[in-house]
Amino acid sequence: MKHKFPDNFLWGVAYSSHQVEGNNINNDWWEWEKKGKTKEESGWSCDSWNRYPVDHKLAQDLGCNAFRLSLEWSRIEPVEGRFSNEAIEHYGKVLKDLKKRGMKRCVTLWHWTSPLWFTSNYGWHKKESVDLFVRYCKKVVEELGDEIDIFISLNEPRLPLNRGYLLGQFPPGVRNPFLFKKARKHMIETQKECYKTVKKTKKEITCCLNEYYSPFYFSSKLERINFITKKIENFFNWKVMDEVAEFQDVIGIDYYRSFEVNLFLPSLKDKSQDGKFNDLLWGIWPEGIHKALAEIWDRYHKPIYIFENGLADKDDKYRAAFIKDHLKWLHRSISEGVDVRGYFHWSLIDNFEWLYGFEPRFGLCEMDYKTMQRKPRPSFYEYQKIIKNNGL
Ligand code: BGC
Repeated sequence: MKHKFPDNFLWGVAYSSHQVEGNNINNDWWEWEKKGKTKEESGWSCDSWNRYPVDHKLAQDLGCNAFRLSLEWSRIEPVEGRFSNEAIEHYGKVLKDLKKRGMKRCVTLWHWTSPLWFTSNYGWHKKESVDLFVRYCKKVVEELGDEIDIFISLNEPRLPLNRGYLLGQFPPGVRNPFLFKKARKHMIETQKECYKTVKKTKKEITCCLNEYYSPFYFSSKLERINFITKKIENFFNWKVMDEVAEFQDVIGIDYYRSFEVNLFLPSLKDKSQDGKFNDLLWGIWPEGIHKALAEIWDRYHKPIYIFENGLADKDDKYRAAFIKDHLKWLHRSISEGVDVRGYFHWSLIDNFEWLYGFEPRFGLCEMDYKTMQRKPRPSFYEYQKIIKNNGL
């Protein structure tokens, strides 16, 4: 075996509540979809609210020892300050089922969707957002903490912040740098407070934030030291992570793509290996995971998890090679001393891909949205082999 992984390495798959559960009628994305802002509406999505045992069984068949999912805030707290026992019980069952099947539970509290009462009365740009979210966090840790191994408070804050507050593409759909800064400040504050809450209530839970990280390749040395370069990297990659560095036990990273930047032209384009692009035209650049890990490790020296890595690939043309190539580079990082603890593939099943609706296919399993059948693609079996051998 050329690339053997450490004994306790976590092999997982990931998905999020709104993208798979279906019928999440009480959150801001549902409203956004109804306004016609997305290609399709999430509707019943994959009906994983009801069919989660099927998903868990698939992950178990894959050989996963970890599973990442998110809790839907709008189900747990449908009305401000009123928690739903039914929803909490449901998630309790979901998490227990994962344990029974031998998987560590990696739980995200917020994967981009917020309850309608929160967005219509407050929103992340309002200072109340911090306390309101921390109250939800506290409730979850008290009620479900025993069933959580890794706790991610916020998923990729920079993406919904940029798109929701600067580009107007995600809810709340504004273009306002002033509100953007406020919202970012509150999300940073939220991570700090959630961390303190978790550590006070259940200190054995590993707690972190999860951020989207795309390394930048600059075209010349001059650019690498340029102050604009620093600004770009800071804005996209470091800002939030730096601020919360001391308020997380480990670092969570999602890696999808890398960018090549030429400041003189100026231009920005996807790095791509052998001219390969996924169905969303994102370049496939496995080496970037190694660059990302090196940069993050150098900066923080904390254990790192890759909580998402994957591609839209309807015909499963590149997925198996994509996984292998990324894992080879990831393995190289480990052999160079970077403490990487796990890899979670995005995603177990095709699901609702936000603005793009159901067209992009990120799943190791193909979804038939009419029958709700999940069918493993060939890459599923390739990933299964890797997990079985704990390497490749
Ligand atoms: C998000 C997922 C999304 C994936 C693919 C990530 O940034 O966390 O929700 O489906 O990218 O676009």
